[in-house]
Amino acid sequence: LSETTVASGQPGPQPVVEQQGMAAHFIVLNIAPGAAAEETVRAFFGNAAALVRSVGRRLPELRLSMVVGIGSNAWDRLFGTPRPAHLHVFKELQGGKHRAPSTPGDLLLHIRAQTVSMCFELAMQAMRALEGAVEPVDEVHGFRYFDARSMVGFVDGTENPEGQEALEATLIGTEDPDFAGGSYVIVQKYLHDMTAWNQLPTEEQERVIGRTKHDDIELADDVKPSNSHVALNVVEDENGNELAIVRNNLPFATPSRGEYGTYFIGYARDPAVTELMLTNMFIGRPPGNYDRLLDFSVAVTGTLFFVPSQALLEALADGNPLAGDDAPDAAETAETAASTPSPVAASAAGTLQIGSLKGQPQ
Ligand code: HEM
Repeated sequence: LSETTVASGQPGPQPVVEQQGMAAHFIVLNIAPGAAAEETVRAFFGNAAALVRSVGRRLPELRLSMVVGIGSNAWDRLFGTPRPAHLHVFKELQGGKHRAPSTPGDLLLHIRAQTVSMCFELAMQAMRALEGAVEPVDEVHGFRYFDARSMVGFVDGTENPEGQEALEATLIGTEDPDFAGGSYVIVQKYLHDMTAWNQLPTEEQERVIGRTKHDDIELADDVKPSNSHVALNVVEDENGNELAIVRNNLPFATPSRGEYGTYFIGYARDPAVTELMLTNMFIGRPPGNYDRLLDFSVAVTGTLFFVPSQALLEALADGNPLAGDDAPDAAETAETAASTPSPVAASAAGTLQIGSLKGQPQ
């Protein structure tokens, strides 16, 4: 992963690597049945950047931004093939004690700004544009808690990569050229047992996270437990290079209902990196040595989305721009294939046929 560099001149990304503001809205939607809903959603992709400009321009210092993500089933329904290489439905993880469920979601709107009102205004305008075409799945309003504290009171985001490193960790490059400048994002909503957490002495909480609470300093290797959150989330490739994602978690809460949570959102160039971290957390490294933070946190959602580059998002308004004339379409392939498969299978069959023709002695 780290060997492939992000090509310069690749399509500009959506604002994936955006500094964390004071507020965020995390909105997950399903697309309603019917072709009209699909058309409205495609039109929204073409219009999303203009909506951000309309709302954000009025108070640019509040740094409004929005990232639009597309789920695996939604991609197939709206655009067929070609499709992003690593786009798939989030895989549930079942550890000995803890589970990361996979929950539905066709679209993600990740709206960030310095104020809640900016997030609200854009969310409202977006929902107007999508009216009748989507159904709500989940909506969380996150807030920055003092000096970027997570709900459990520790500073969150410190070891995020920055600058060029952040771009390389999150943006697809030459490995999937049709989708260069895109990204993948995994979201999970966690609820915390704050009563149990608050009963832990601070030193013990520090051993759960792997950093000090007040100063946010990483614990020394000989003190930091192997089941601490930080220890299990430091992951490497087979050559010993550290693999990174960019996180933009925020806490959320409804205190009168006793609901205290963390909205995890992690952007990655390859979702396998985030999945490796999740495997360490839920299954354990080695298996059984799971993340102790999970004894105080329950994952209630889990969804994966593809984030097209800004240019691709806009182009998707007119359908899949990569399904060119020379790409085998379902009708063409059906003439030569033995059966009439689905568009996805049809394209696979087309590819196979070209391959076998090439392999035939002439
Ligand atoms: C680090 C909180 C879920 C990946 C941290 C830190 C905190 C934290 C306080 C230390 C400061 C920092 O470097 O950011 C939480 C909470 C979570 C959560 C409250 C929800 C219950 C996750 C998940 C993943 C993840 C689901 C990955 C799939 C990481 C990574 C680091 C980190 C990669 C940095 C490790 C390092 O390089 O030191 N998290 N996190 N976190 N977390 Fe989480």
